[in-house]
Amino acid sequence: MKAMVIGSGAREHALAWKLRQSPRVDRLFVAPGNAGTAAIAQNLDIPATNIEALAEAAGQHRIDLTVVGPEAPLASGIVDLFQSRSLPVLGPSRAASQIEASKVFSKELMQKHRIPCARGAVFTSYAQAREYVQSQPAPLVIKADGLAAGKGVVVAASAEQALEALSDFMEKRVLGAAGDRIIVEECLSGREVSLLAFTDGRNVRPMVPACDYKRVFDGDRGPNTGGMGSYSPPGFFSQSDVLKIQQTILEPTVRAMAAEGIPYRGVLYAGLMVNPEGARVLEFNARFGDPETQAIIPRLKTDLVDIFLAVINGTLNRLAIEWSDDACVAVVLASEGYPGAYHTGLPISGLTGLDPDMHVFHAGTAMKNGVVTSGGRVLTVAATGRTLREARDRVYADVPRIQFHGRHYRRDIAAREIPPEAGGSR
Ligand code: AMP
Ligand code: GLY
Repeated sequence: MKAMVIGSGAREHALAWKLRQSPRVDRLFVAPGNAGTAAIAQNLDIPATNIEALAEAAGQHRIDLTVVGPEAPLASGIVDLFQSRSLPVLGPSRAASQIEASKVFSKELMQKHRIPCARGAVFTSYAQAREYVQSQPAPLVIKADGLAAGKGVVVAASAEQALEALSDFMEKRVLGAAGDRIIVEECLSGREVSLLAFTDGRNVRPMVPACDYKRVFDGDRGPNTGGMGSYSPPGFFSQSDVLKIQQTILEPTVRAMAAEGIPYRGVLYAGLMVNPEGARVLEFNARFGDPETQAIIPRLKTDLVDIFLAVINGTLNRLAIEWSDDACVAVVLASEGYPGAYHTGLPISGLTGLDPDMHVFHAGTAMKNGVVTSGGRVLTVAATGRTLREARDRVYADVPRIQFHGRHYRRDIAAREIPPEAGGSR
């Protein structure tokens, strides 16, 4: 069969890498892809947001299976468009992807169907939102409704900060229409886990859990990024926790969507805050996470094509999905200056002769007399091992060999999971 991955990040390279291993796939396309996907698939020079051109290409090349990486094409209805042309595609419809694209939609869904989440209220009036903020104890979390590339959430330590965020979103409209409706919610504490699941609209199959790192510098300092690393599994989140979340959050959410007449099919990503009282939803995403996917997919044993077809055909109940007991640690290598301004076109060296257990998933890379940088996040380097310690030691042994001018990466991915060496002095 012919398969296609839409997107150009390391998440999409990881998905393409896994699809490439399927004996059922004889041709693989990535649109638009990067230098890494070009080595294992045919890149199509179509932006992930041009859904009309993507549907055209899928028809022309007679693609049997498409998977959508990023949220923007889902929110603009790529799945509906493909389905209207009988092109098999993995992902939620435009209506169902509101679970990510509208924080108000997902908040109201969770409140109505009693899915555990932070207490909060929705506002369309700046004056009413101000009044509410002044009546609540800090800290508070202020969320803009629409897609805002990670800039729509402010965790405000004080009432002043909360009011400033409200003013930015609702009065100054710094995020445009995304700030027309906002949520004010209680600030939860605990540890964050990402639990992704495959669902065909009825059956839910969780993946292995993962943690991601959003801040640019070690110790969670500095500005937010698209993600600087991830690992799986978190030591503090057991298989019985996964089962509990499946029963109390993932399955109820899929049932709730069906009950609302908006069946949800594809990958459902629950961002959770976990503490001794239990787990609550911080956000849903309508797709694979980045960089979680780069630490999850290397652990998948089952053929990804079998899973995707079962999701599309509604037969997940008949498929056993197997995961390796290995751990995986994934480290993002970023351009100098990222997440601020950065240069591109810098040559990358050291991509060959690495440990065979290493995966180098490309993101912002292009071919130009060799592989050069073309984005802020350039590569995700992932390694598996029997334990997190082994995976972490492996990845950090090889990362320094991969060089481009000014590259930076976090040194503490999965570090807090590793107990100090017995007898060690540090
Ligand atoms: P979201 O896009 O909703 O996941 O928010 C981005 C980040 O903001 C999350 O990963 C959390 O670190 C933080 N966050 C969101 N909601 C809350 C909350 N209610 N309490 C504490 N932190 C939150
Ligand atoms: N890692 C967070 C996300 O994919 O949105």
